Amino acid sequence: MKKLNIVAAIAISGVIFLASCGGGNQESSQTKEEPAQKEEVKASENTGLEAQLQLGEKIYKEKCIVCHQADAKGLKGAFPPLAGSDYLLADLKRAVAQTINGSNEEMIVNGEKYNAPMTPQVKTIEEGVAVINYVLKQFNGYTDDQLIKVEDVQDIEINPLDIPQQTPQQQ
Ligand code: HEC
Repeated sequence: MKKLNIVAAIAISGVIFLASCGGGNQESSQTKEEPAQKEEVKASENTGLEAQLQLGEKIYKEKCIVCHQADAKGLKGAFPPLAGSDYLLADLKRAVAQTINGSNEEMIVNGEKYNAPMTPQVKTIEEGVAVINYVLKQFNGYTDDQLIKVEDVQDIEINPLDIPQQTPQQQ
């Protein structure tokens, strides 16, 4: 539907453009507005992804940064890296699933062994995709067209691991 509207908007603005050209010189001020209108259409096409990446940044800074660090390189032996992680980049859907459900298994990331539990971090597939896409774009140089689409990972089972939260009192 959205695509159709955009096509219609472009077609209509084309008709106005042609009409105003035919109308003679006195309407030339109208024709000058055409390029600006087309840019607006383009910008609104992109807001879905921009909003998603903004949400991802917010989640990263609120939740992941404590362990995976501001540069996403983690802490050797304790928290695996999300930047340049061979393990993460080998399976993006698994990364979204781990972010939603948590993870509690031994893993080798860039040749280093990690085996501490990660509690579930987000509640929905949309949030999981948002934060992993932010990680891919911000820390792994991915371009927009390489990012994960929510519809491609819609079948992830939401089944959070029951891992006790590690609070400072427990330590
Ligand atoms: C309390 C610390 C902690 C927080 C907070 C945390 N993680 Fe983790 N994360 C870990 C640990 C520990 C592992 C290793 C888990 C294992 O061995 O099963 C891990 C593993 C991962 C992995 C798989 C390994 C890799 O390097 O690719 C991904 C992906 C991941 N975390 C993403 C995230 C995201 C995204 C967030 C924020 C929404 C987050 N984590 C928040 C501690 C944390």
